Amino acid sequence: MTLSISRREIMGCSGGLAMGLAIGGLAGYQHTKGAAESIRFDDVLTKPELVRLIFNENPYGPPESAKQAISSAINASWMYGYKEVRLLREMIANHEGLRPDNVIVTEGSGELLKIAGLVLGGGKEVVCGYPTFTMLPDYAVRNGGTVEAVRLNSDMGIDLSAMEERISDLTGVVYVCNPNNPTGNSLNSDDLRGFIDFISPHVPVFVDEAYIDFTENPRLSSMVDQIKSGMNVIVSRTFSKAYGMAGLRIGYGLGRADVINRLEQRRISNPNRLGLIAALASYEDQKFLSYSRKMVRAGIDVAYGVLNDMGLRYIPTQGNFILFDSGRPSVKFHRHMLKHNILVAPKTDFHENWVRVSIGRLEEMDIFAEAARQYFLKT
Ligand SMILES: Cc1ncc(COP(=O)(O)O)c(C=O)c1O
Repeated sequence: MTLSISRREIMGCSGGLAMGLAIGGLAGYQHTKGAAESIRFDDVLTKPELVRLIFNENPYGPPESAKQAISSAINASWMYGYKEVRLLREMIANHEGLRPDNVIVTEGSGELLKIAGLVLGGGKEVVCGYPTFTMLPDYAVRNGGTVEAVRLNSDMGIDLSAMEERISDLTGVVYVCNPNNPTGNSLNSDDLRGFIDFISPHVPVFVDEAYIDFTENPRLSSMVDQIKSGMNVIVSRTFSKAYGMAGLRIGYGLGRADVINRLEQRRISNPNRLGLIAALASYEDQKFLSYSRKMVRAGIDVAYGVLNDMGLRYIPTQGNFILFDSGRPSVKFHRHMLKHNILVAPKTDFHENWVRVSIGRLEEMDIFAEAARQYFLKT
């Protein structure tokens, strides 16, 4: 309790301090944007037989259960998906031990990140790690918000104590991506729980769990239990990653009913009905999820193999992608891979040498490994 009082005092009086630091945070953030825009890949996407190792998609989906449900429902695609949104909210709520009004179903979790950025971050500050997934902070900026981007610690982990210091009266939302994109590593759950216990009475904490189903124990690492304890935490999840349904665009968020209602009021689109039907049919399909995890793990091992052989530094991943240090400007690696019809993500936004490779099918990972070996042995 003493700790809590002193920490609260820090938060109460840190407006001036945070304003000073905001300049550094924002500068880092703008750098992120500039660099990301300088690498163009949209013209490459139409190339035949392109190996897409860039968007963290999962080619092992959709599950059979989802495919069958879509086939059976195709003739009824003339309907809007209002009923299915309701059913999915109920299904998720039952499973999580929450109520339907604690659940929002969105067009991918991206829609929820955008709404949260606009609503909670608009005109305020978003405190987040750097680098991290930028959709929520991006949308806060579009609505007059600013970003306090806090560099990762020396282990490339999200630095919760540094983030805590940046929180001020100006903070509208704290964004934590766990596992983090692009690093792929996760926070210790107890540390994150402690952070939420302490911060969320003052500022909502948004935890993005897009990749949580790839972790060894998704139940243990999820922050959903914090909602049940009354904390102001919003958890987002998606059917795009472990379920392999990115093109079907279904995601959801969990949170306090008043917060979910506020976000629901600002939604812009409605999820498509076939996506909803696929999600209803495959939600918690444990057989598929363990198959998906197993295949992605095997792909990760192929990538680790070549990275180890080439003596490259990488971050052990909890997601379906790996961030590694290519040892030289990553745009060169990117260009080399493109010649082999492979699209990877140079992460020049935070370091010019780092590359993120998404895990594709095993045969695609072999193609990646072969092309990577050629590059590193030659240059
Ligand atoms: C961390 C993270 N959150 C959310 C998303 C959004 O995914 P979707 O809108 O497909 O659910 C992504 C997409 O790559 C992501 O990496």
